[in-house]
Amino acid sequence: MTYRKRKASLLAALLLPFFASLLLAAQDPLGPGEPAWLAYRPVNSVLVFPAGVPDTVVVLGNSALENSASRELALGWRGMLQHEPRIVSDTRDTAKRIVVIGTQAELNAWRTAPADRTLLAADAYKLYHLGNALVIEGGDQRGALYGAFALLRLIAEEHSLNTLDESSAPASSIRWTNEWDNPNGSIERGYAGPSIFFADGKVRADLSRAAAYARLLSSVGINGCTINNVNANIDLLKPESVADLARVADAFRPYGVRLSLSVDMSSPQVLGGLKTFDPLDPEVAAWWKAKVDEIYRAIPDFGGVLIKADSEGRPGPSQYGRTPADAANVVARALRSHGGVVLYRGFVYNNHLDWHDLKADRARAGYDNFHALDGKFEDNVIVQIKHGPIDFQVREPASPLFAALPHTNEAIELQVTQEYTGQQRHLVYLVPMWKEALDTDMRASLSAPPLPVKQIISGHNAPTEHHTAGGFVGVTNVGTDGWLGNPLSLANLYGFGRLAWDANLSAAAISDEWTRLTFGNDPSVRAVVNKLQLDSWHIYESYTGPLGVGTLTDIIGVHFGPGIESAERNGWGQWIRADHDGVGMDRTVATGTGYIGQYPAPLAAKYESLATCPDELLLFMHHVPYSYRLHSGKTVMQHIDDTHYWGAEAAAAQVPAWESLRGRVPDAIYAEVLQRLQFQAGHSIVWRDAVTQWFTKMSGIPDAEGRVGHYPGRIEAESMQLDGYTPVDVTPWETASGGRAVICAAQQCSAQTTWNQPDGWYDITVQYFDLLHGHSRFALSVAGNEVEHWVAADTLPSDKLSGHTSTRRVLHHVAIHHGDFVRVDGWPDGLEKAPLDYIEILPSPEHGTSN
Ligand code: GCU
Repeated sequence: MTYRKRKASLLAALLLPFFASLLLAAQDPLGPGEPAWLAYRPVNSVLVFPAGVPDTVVVLGNSALENSASRELALGWRGMLQHEPRIVSDTRDTAKRIVVIGTQAELNAWRTAPADRTLLAADAYKLYHLGNALVIEGGDQRGALYGAFALLRLIAEEHSLNTLDESSAPASSIRWTNEWDNPNGSIERGYAGPSIFFADGKVRADLSRAAAYARLLSSVGINGCTINNVNANIDLLKPESVADLARVADAFRPYGVRLSLSVDMSSPQVLGGLKTFDPLDPEVAAWWKAKVDEIYRAIPDFGGVLIKADSEGRPGPSQYGRTPADAANVVARALRSHGGVVLYRGFVYNNHLDWHDLKADRARAGYDNFHALDGKFEDNVIVQIKHGPIDFQVREPASPLFAALPHTNEAIELQVTQEYTGQQRHLVYLVPMWKEALDTDMRASLSAPPLPVKQIISGHNAPTEHHTAGGFVGVTNVGTDGWLGNPLSLANLYGFGRLAWDANLSAAAISDEWTRLTFGNDPSVRAVVNKLQLDSWHIYESYTGPLGVGTLTDIIGVHFGPGIESAERNGWGQWIRADHDGVGMDRTVATGTGYIGQYPAPLAAKYESLATCPDELLLFMHHVPYSYRLHSGKTVMQHIDDTHYWGAEAAAAQVPAWESLRGRVPDAIYAEVLQRLQFQAGHSIVWRDAVTQWFTKMSGIPDAEGRVGHYPGRIEAESMQLDGYTPVDVTPWETASGGRAVICAAQQCSAQTTWNQPDGWYDITVQYFDLLHGHSRFALSVAGNEVEHWVAADTLPSDKLSGHTSTRRVLHHVAIHHGDFVRVDGWPDGLEKAPLDYIEILPSPEHGTSN
């Protein structure tokens, strides 16, 4: 029997990333820190500096920040312009082409005739020409560093700097990331390896990655980083930990990133040994004061603290009948004299809600818990509000809490780590989603000027002027594995920083900037990468949770694969309220939970009425029958089927799009992204089948196109001829084809079928489960010849057969003759019993597909 694999370069494919990563490491200017968007690839210097590249950089100040700037300029000159610049501290020789960098004060002293200049704000910068000098002027030292990064960005994008004259200031003062790292080195909802800050219960000895991270953050204007989990480990406030944490602050300082910490409200009692942690108790206040003073002795530029309290089991002021304002204020008063702030999370809700109560609604919690406290917070408290009212679902409306605190500082919390959006194994560029929240107009009446969320959180809320601070917080959770694991996900961290600086930048502009900085200016690379990024959220949404219903993942598990009913019948309140007649949460004022009434009148009116509620938020706001017709003209049920099929096709099409870049992007990145997109293409089918079958069963409405439940070429493992394998039920049923799989309890098992279709070239998919632990082996053979052999060595995030672990191996272009046996052999390993779901055999497309 003949068989042939069209591309037998498996070994090469396996080894390529290894060698390529060695190469990349060798190119990395900072040793352990991957360069990310600071790759400083060579540019056409004639385009940038038509009159010649400046060969001298004059650094007027001697601060750590300006030294970072000069080091960065030297790196950029070397990498992009292939020039080794002279770095000097002063020169009046204006005959030379020079770059001068300094603060406004330093530049005024340097200039012979200071011009009449308006004061530059802190962190702001200005880039302009003065005679033969190209000037980088910072409102302060940090501004000078930001200016250097901005200039390097322009160079990387090959802009001509001939007539450069621009100034830029951040919209808000709080531009922080939160890292949910634990002292043992694990990261809650982190998808890129262990912590860069902690290991074995302590701060790491080697903090070079922390410094490299601060450099990345600084390059996009991020000025603060909270390095430990919001579910805070109390031990980090012990004196020995504080001393250790000071080393992280030291690593951050040269890049203008202030360290901050998550703290647990019960610390005065648990750590301090007090009888209480009641925020109104004077001893508690004194404890916080002493602790904060101790921290500032070790870390003079400490940024402040982040507090999660009365939320998901964390202790909080409610224990003493006190409010979030009482809790925030006691810590804020301790911080005030040092210039520190409290970020108090608005994510306070009851996770024991009564599912039977149709008026109960988790989405109401933020507003209900905080709006009456408006104006009661100290002015160095900032309420940190997740962008939507639930929890980073693939689609949520902006939280109504943003509009409810006109006399309180606010920051928006965005999630860079893709907890509910595919955990970096699926491509989801989040900037368009964030922009929807930021652009949501919260004006109180239609006659008032627009009041988008981005303006409210800027801290310069013109109509009220009561804010003193505000801004952006990004839950990032970087790890040691390429920061975010998926190289394309770095666009989200980049985009977060850029939006925090200027929320008016478009998603397309940010993607293009990131792409050029990361991959260079090749127009074909830009076109492909930008399209992949900009389409990705819509694609992911299409095959996961439709119409604002929620992501439909397993909400009480790892939040990765489908798990539709996990949302229902529990106290977590992520209910979708799907029954045989209809689906969606009725949050109307008229008949529902009243949540919609928390919005300012114009927005409330829009959401309350079915006529004006946008389709994409329909099931967030309303409960409707499956036959309900959307504005698009489709019924809800047909929309679910169509979008899921479209989404899986679109996910599959991302693979050849990326393959068109082979050789045009660094090999290591190419291989890493390709592997993830291939996984996503398979996993989107797991999602598609789970969601469409579940809703078909629930609604009793068949797919008008007959796709759901009918899978051409699919042969269930349990219906094959089994040797050693035994069938098992999979829970939830919709995450395995036919609700069942087979597992092997012996040393080796096989599942075989006889091919009763015509001879031809076929693509064979083996759908199996790859658990977190265990390395089962599989082999696929046709007519007794082994055509593929592989180890299930991925680390999918569960040890159960489910939508979290369902994955596939695809073999293209295999010759199969009528009557051939097609067989899968499995060798279990530990708890992983070489589990198989199905095989699918489909005619190969005319020209085959590479894989
Ligand atoms: C989500 C997430 C938790 C996290 C929480 C929070 O619920 O799953 O891991 O602790 O958000 O933001 O506090």
